[in-house]
Parts: sequence; structure tokens; C-alpha cells
Amino acid sequence: MKIAETIITSQHAIALEEKYGAHNYHPLPVVLNRGEGVFVWDVEGNRYYDFLSAYSAVNQGHCHPRIINAMIEQAQKLTLTSRAFHNDILGEYEQFMTKLFGYDKLLPMNTGVEGGETALKLARRWGYDVKGVEKNKAKIIFAEGNFWGRTLAAISSSTDPSSSGGFGPFMPGFELIPYNDLAALENAVKDPNVVGFMIEPIQGEAGVLVPDEGYLAKAFTICKKNKVLFIADEVQTGIARTGKMLACDHENVRPDILILGKALSGGTMPVSAVFADDEIMLCIKPGEHGSTYGGNPLACKVAMAAMSVVLDEKLSENAAALGEILRSELRKIKSDRITLVRGKGLLNAIVIEEKNGFDAWDICLRLKDNGLLAKPTHGDIIRFAPPLVITEEQIMECAAIIRRTIESLD
Ligand SMILES: Cc1ncc(COP(=O)(O)O)c(C=O)c1O
Repeated sequence: MKIAETIITSQHAIALEEKYGAHNYHPLPVVLNRGEGVFVWDVEGNRYYDFLSAYSAVNQGHCHPRIINAMIEQAQKLTLTSRAFHNDILGEYEQFMTKLFGYDKLLPMNTGVEGGETALKLARRWGYDVKGVEKNKAKIIFAEGNFWGRTLAAISSSTDPSSSGGFGPFMPGFELIPYNDLAALENAVKDPNVVGFMIEPIQGEAGVLVPDEGYLAKAFTICKKNKVLFIADEVQTGIARTGKMLACDHENVRPDILILGKALSGGTMPVSAVFADDEIMLCIKPGEHGSTYGGNPLACKVAMAAMSVVLDEKLSENAAALGEILRSELRKIKSDRITLVRGKGLLNAIVIEEKNGFDAWDICLRLKDNGLLAKPTHGDIIRFAPPLVITEEQIMECAAIIRRTIESLD
């Protein structure tokens, strides 16, 4: 079968997807075929600032040469052995990562949602083996508005009807409490069957909801007092996005179980990792969990390169400094369409009030026409999360594009 080498126009590419692909996404009408640093180009050659960074997977910028070179080099040697055999990179990677994040052990997976599943299995098993919870009675607490993926377990904890509607029955043993509500947590963990509290330090998909200062630290203390594992889902917030290596670092919280994904590979392939100390990690024995691709040598090499870029290029520091500038510029925009600017580091959002028929989606279309790609979430929120390699000059240019776009509607 002949596969077309080049897709000539955006229109044609979109028509092919529409006809032959499942309709499970609603992308902005732009067809990209090249990326470099903070920029992407469409098939017609137009250049855009990427203000989504593939939902924070491309923190290091598109096609970072160090990551791509590591990938090419390893791809020419060995890509996959499965875990039926050892490979010569996995151990080195596990040592590198556990030293960097300060845990005894790492369990390698691929996607973020698999990282979440792994964390929950670890918490349940720890609950039975260490905490002494009666068989099949373990409970995990989640916060309303959480998002950790699309598997049946992930949607079983979701409060978003578009995630879960029509897909039941759901996973038992999950309970919900309001986000940013310590009293609710205190009450929920009194149940001795609760083994874990899984939380996003900032809720990304819910619209970049930043909890009150001190929430994470106090939630951690409540978990500790009640022998409940504090599980941080840092798949979106981790790896420098919020101005520290982990968003939990802002409150000096060291989660019992830490989940990373997305930017672990700098946007090149699915790589996720779950971290814990021996008391938790060694509860899972050979044959009880795994994945064909998890821990493959290609992923391990790529992830070490991706993390080295984050450290060497001081991306946390850059995200912290430029995030302040971006929010302050956004707050200067004179339009009552923007009702709120919020975020931390370079994970930010504006809340849009629909006016004269223009909602967040329409604003994203206008931003696209002006050379900046962003995507609405939950109808009225636009997330602004550029690659962390962005410069101050570029952030100022982007803030000007956003200002011009929004002010031109009034
Ligand atoms: C906080 C969080 N956890 C988990 C996931 C799931 O990651 P993946 O899409 O790689 O499965 C996401 C994806 O957006 C996320 O934002």
C-alpha cells in the first residue's frame, strides 16, 4: 500500500483524520509538521509559538538536539529487550533518577496513566501487606476535578461527565473529596481502610487550579498522622513546569509515591516513572506488575538526556522567573473578558467570560491567526504553558500577541 509522503494542505490532512480516524478529540484546525524549541510550523509554513507544549510534555522545547541525539544513538544500538532480559541502560537510569529525586527505587512505565495505575496498585498492596487492611477493602481518596488519564480506573475517580459518562461500571474503592479542602481530607482519612491520597499539586486539566499556600504540606501531615500514603501525580506539574523540579518542592513535601511522565522524555516518546522507598516498592514482587515497553533502553537513554537538559539549562529557574513576568503582563490586559489570571511558573491559565459571541475557543482561533497556539479547557479557560526554554524577549512578544488579540475583540 502506498503511503503519501507529503500531505499538501492542512485542509486535506484534517479531512483524512475526519474520515479515517476516531472522533475522540477536537483539535484546533492547524496541521503541524515541524517543531524547534518554542516554535512549531504548519504544513503551509506558518510559524507559531507553542503555548501548550503538548500538555507539558515538551518542557525542554521541540526536538531538543541533545535528546534527539541520545535517541538516535541508542536507537542504532538497542531499543527493546522487554523485562524478560536485563539491558545495560535500565540500572544506570534507575540510579540516576533515584539519586536525582531522592527515593530508594523507581518503577518504569510508559504513559502517565500507567504511572497512576502503578501508584494505586502499590498503595493497595502496601495497605494489605504493611498497614494491615483487610483483603479487598482498601480505599483511595482523590480530589474532585482530578485528571489522571483515560483508563477505566482513571475515569472511575473522575468528576467530569465527559470523561466517565457512558463507560460504567466503575472501579470500587475510590472516594472523592473537594480539592483544597483539608477538613474533608482529615475526615476521609479517619477510615482505617484508606491507604492513599492521590493528588495533583496543581490541577492541570481542571483549569490550572492552584491550591492555597500550605495545602500540600498540611495534607501531607494529615496523611502521615493517619498512616495514609501521600501520592503526588506530578505528570503535568513535575519536571520544572511550575518553577521547581517538582510542584511539591514549593512546600518541601516529599511524597510517599511520586508519579512522573510527559516531559520525562522531552516529548519524544511515552516514558513514565513511579518512585517510592523500599517499604512500599518492594511490596510488589516479580510477575505482579509490568509492561512490555517499560524500562526499555531507548526510553532510559532519552529520559536521562531529557533530565540533564532540565538541569543544565536551569529550566526550573527560567520557568519561575518568566512565569512571574507572563502573569504580570497578562494582568495588564485591559479587557473584562479576562476574569482571572492564575498559575505557577509556566503553568498558567486565564479565565474567559463569553462576550459578543466570543468564547475561549474563538479566542484560541484568533491567537492562532496571530501566531500563538493555545487550547481551551473546560470551555472558559485557556492554558498558557510554553516550553520552558522560552526567553524573556519571547515571553514579552507572546504577551503582546495575547494582549493584541483580546483587546482587538472589544
Ligand atoms: C496530572 C496528569 N496525570 C496523568 C495524566 C495522563 O497522562 P497520559 O496522557 O500520558 O496517560 C495527565 C495527562 O494529561 C495529567 O495531566
